[in-house]
Amino acid sequence: MDISASVPAIMSSKGCIIERFYDRMFAEHPELRRHFTNRDMRIQASMLTVALASVEAYYSHHFPATEHYLKVLGNRHFHEGVRPEDYPKFQTALLETLEDFFGDQWQPDLARQWKEALELAVQTMLEGYHKVYTM
Ligand code: HEM
Repeated sequence: MDISASVPAIMSSKGCIIERFYDRMFAEHPELRRHFTNRDMRIQASMLTVALASVEAYYSHHFPATEHYLKVLGNRHFHEGVRPEDYPKFQTALLETLEDFFGDQWQPDLARQWKEALELAVQTMLEGYHKVYTM
């Protein structure tokens, strides 16, 4: 399985697998929980799940719309007070969640592609940090 084929598997998973991601990230990095006080984590998980499709689309196709989306998303994170040093913790917990979900299908190539895709996404989000976007 490659990264493109893995997206429908993530999208169609019955329990939202990304809800498990936040539990894992907060267990590993309790200091990040403060960003999410009074947030509905089920909604948050579904937004992140959909965003992962854009992360893959930008990695695989470099669509301009996905680049713009990631920059605007980065800008929103800047306004949420998310610091650049928070991203590696987030990325590691997300890769571990995907590894658990895919089990035997989590082969080195798939792991490498998701690692690279998240690195590219975060780099693009950070490029949007200090831009001014009007809604
Ligand atoms: C690959 C990296 C990341 C992706 C793809 C991502 C994705 C998203 C998405 C899609 C949203 C919803 C945006 C919206 O309201 O329209 C969001 C919101 C948010 N993210 Fe991230 N995120 C990433 C990294 C992080 C990190 C490292 C943190 C900090 C711990 C973080 C904290 C937040 C917070 C606080 C919100 C707002 C929650 C809310 O309004 O309910 N994110 N993120």
